[in-house]
Amino acid sequence: MDRIEFSVNGRQYSVGADVDSDVSLNDYLRNVLNLRGTKYMCQEGGCGACIVAVTTVDQFGNKRTFSVNSCLVSITSCEGWEVTTVEGIGGRGRYHRVQKTLAEYNGSQCGYCSPGWVMSMYSLLEANNYKLTKDEIEKSFGSNTCRCTGYRPILDAFKSFAKDVPDIEDLSLCKDKACSSKYDDWCFIEEKTIEDKIKQINLKDGNVWYRVYKIEDVFEVIKTKGTNPYMLINGNTGKGVFPILRYPKILIDISSIDELKTYYIDQNLVIGAGMSITNVMDLFKEISEKKEEFKYLKKMYEHLELVAHIPVRNIGTVGGNLMLKHKHPIFPSDIFLLFEAVSATIAIRNDKEIVEMDLQKFLSTDMSGKILTEIKLPPLSSNYHFVSFKIMPRSQNAPAQINAAFLYELDRVKETVLSSTIVIGGLSVKFVHAQKTEDYLRGKKLFTNETLQAALRVLEKEIIVKEMKGYSKAEYRKKCALGLFYKVRKGSE
Ligand code: FES
Ligand code: FES
Repeated sequence: MDRIEFSVNGRQYSVGADVDSDVSLNDYLRNVLNLRGTKYMCQEGGCGACIVAVTTVDQFGNKRTFSVNSCLVSITSCEGWEVTTVEGIGGRGRYHRVQKTLAEYNGSQCGYCSPGWVMSMYSLLEANNYKLTKDEIEKSFGSNTCRCTGYRPILDAFKSFAKDVPDIEDLSLCKDKACSSKYDDWCFIEEKTIEDKIKQINLKDGNVWYRVYKIEDVFEVIKTKGTNPYMLINGNTGKGVFPILRYPKILIDISSIDELKTYYIDQNLVIGAGMSITNVMDLFKEISEKKEEFKYLKKMYEHLELVAHIPVRNIGTVGGNLMLKHKHPIFPSDIFLLFEAVSATIAIRNDKEIVEMDLQKFLSTDMSGKILTEIKLPPLSSNYHFVSFKIMPRSQNAPAQINAAFLYELDRVKETVLSSTIVIGGLSVKFVHAQKTEDYLRGKKLFTNETLQAALRVLEKEIIVKEMKGYSKAEYRKKCALGLFYKVRKGSE
């Protein structure tokens, strides 16, 4: 019988027919292993109380440590993972320096959130070789919630790890050398060749979990089991946005398909749909610095920093995000918005062929028996001007109330618009492009008051905005959208 094997704090475990499909890593840690240091609260990837560190070896053989929300991860997704909980990094008499520093800066009161903060910071330090800036540390704060201490002492504690302030060892608050080296004696992944044979686990609740290694494996499972009902699972972070009340009978874990995690540049930048948002961000940053025609990816990187938070981005994939938009058109996907604004195309595979299409067509395509494999982002000359915005109720870790992306192709000599793309999310389920405004702007001087006023009138008329559950008033969102259109001009001055 196939089983899923992983380790927690250095000890090997495995699961198989003894678990249900809705058992999360958090349930397993707390209820089976009795490791109650890992807490839970929201169960939807929002509060960070459940964060643990995970170390894996990626498809290039590199060892990576990253944080995950254990409440979102199915225990059956943990194949080959080296999980570290707060108990694994330190405890009474052997506290890790992250724990000590948090205490010394008075960053904990009731303490319920503290393990999550500690594991979030620990993972970030490990992932970045203990070289972080204050800014990077502050931006990571969207991952966790604290209800009683207040964020200032926690921020002060963690900022002391930044490399753009004196080294932690030099700070008077942490002089105990004994607390500095406990983290390297426990967590090692043995590099082993993972068998690339499909694993099948008949779960306790009657559902069947398949772990597949090639795209063809997906079709093999579908061929034998049929398409109804089934679900492809990678990071499973979408569950935080749209809870899964009942898992379908067939669950296909595609997180080990390396082919979905690669990228290449022909003329376009082609990214695998299974790349995590974190990996895509790193890639965007790197390519935007090296290639003029992909400079706009830097702006996308900055926008992606506002998508969910680090642990979700670490395992949530770009393809999964697009599929969530496909399944729930109300979802104001920032990834859909950004990619649609630059007219990205996607590749969809079934067992016979690969079909390429634009993202709007994808939204109305039946994806049963198919898999989204690649996204192609085009190169853009310096005549293009790309801007995007996200309006949310908090500055971090919140879905968009309104998001918008604008791409203008300009005739630099005449200063007129050759073409434009205006994509606005969060208005209504149907509204995507401000097509009439795009048409109106063609041939006009973009940044004159006359053009702007007239375009705003066109935009106001064509916007379809609906009252939607969980969103602010329709009138407010409409005004926001108009304001963002105006803001492009302000940002260009
Ligand atoms: Fe809140 Fe997991 S319990 S993020
Ligand atoms: Fe009480 Fe953070 S210390 S919730």
